[in-house]
Amino acid sequence: MRCIDEIPAGELKGKRVLVRSDFNVPMGADGEVADIFRLRRGWETIQYLSKHGARTIVISHIGRKPEESIEPVVRALKKFGAIVYIPDIVGPAAKGATRAMHDGEILLLENLRRDPREKKNDATFAHELANLADIYVSDAFAVAHREDTSIVGVPKLLPSYAGFLMRDEVAQLTAALHPKHPSLAIVGGAKFETKDPVIRSFLEVYDHVCVVGAIANDCLKGKGFPVGRSRISEHAPAREVCENPRLIIPTDVTTESSLKQAFVKKPQDVLPDDKIVDIGPDTVATLAPYIAEAKFITWNGPTGIFEEGYISYTSAIAELIAKRVEKGGLHCVIGGGDTIAALKESGIPEEKLGFFSTGGGAMLEFLLKGTLPGIEALN
Ligand code: 3PG
Repeated sequence: MRCIDEIPAGELKGKRVLVRSDFNVPMGADGEVADIFRLRRGWETIQYLSKHGARTIVISHIGRKPEESIEPVVRALKKFGAIVYIPDIVGPAAKGATRAMHDGEILLLENLRRDPREKKNDATFAHELANLADIYVSDAFAVAHREDTSIVGVPKLLPSYAGFLMRDEVAQLTAALHPKHPSLAIVGGAKFETKDPVIRSFLEVYDHVCVVGAIANDCLKGKGFPVGRSRISEHAPAREVCENPRLIIPTDVTTESSLKQAFVKKPQDVLPDDKIVDIGPDTVATLAPYIAEAKFITWNGPTGIFEEGYISYTSAIAELIAKRVEKGGLHCVIGGGDTIAALKESGIPEEKLGFFSTGGGAMLEFLLKGTLPGIEALN
């Protein structure tokens, strides 16, 4: 995988560069972008290309409904620099606008998923996109697990490079595949079946794997503890996972009764009316020495239902990690949209914690396979 900074100086000037970004960002009730994390991370590549005189054509999908427009993303991106929105993808307006560009100019085309061929790795659509440019750059790590036209089709047709976001994600997550020891993985999430493969793989390479969030309920249940009205996955964890000596399960939990009263309890004291909504302080204390001695931590998934305000134990773990990072010698990789959103609410800045991955599903798939279709397409 070649990175854009390997293109010799001067060669970008005047070139039309098609940048596949992932600006699939959460939208607020006001119809505006609610979180600019992916925009901020993706802007570095766009800015570099523009500064080197490239005519940068940015493409991205947004959401899963084809009628969604990317226009609000353009409004949010204008905080970073000048960018023009073209409400078209490969039609006459896009062709005209991309031909009329000046050096250093940046355009953003409409939501790729407005064209049904985007999801089909369609050869004609790939040619139509490739015809807009001279060079292709992939910076869309978070969608590199999808075999979409703009991800795997276009790089077959143009000289292709990774952007800075893509380069950094691959480097950081490759390090997470071979962690320095002692190592700790913290994994949360809602459905055990989606996390099961990665937990099994972590149990082989990490010294300790702590399950939090709703999937911890499955492990508690698997160990014979009562879980009341708590969320339980369709597929229960296998016995060898629950019994693995490297697996750490919560030693206490925060529960909510049907009257919405919250209590911290030992797992054996959970009542039929209780719903587990977070871990508790004992679990944080159990994790503290592992965090204190860790040289590598991978974290994906908040500890509790942060959307309902159960954020304090996610923040407590983040504080322990921040202290450990300050001491030096810890490499920490954090990912998953919910984890990043929860940590943003906790107020601890990203630079105090380590590397924040923009990937959700892509991060997990990379950690399982060591590569993704969108990375292979660049090789
Ligand atoms: C993401 O947000 O995880 C990526 O943009 C992929 O989106 P998708 O799950 O709709 O393909």
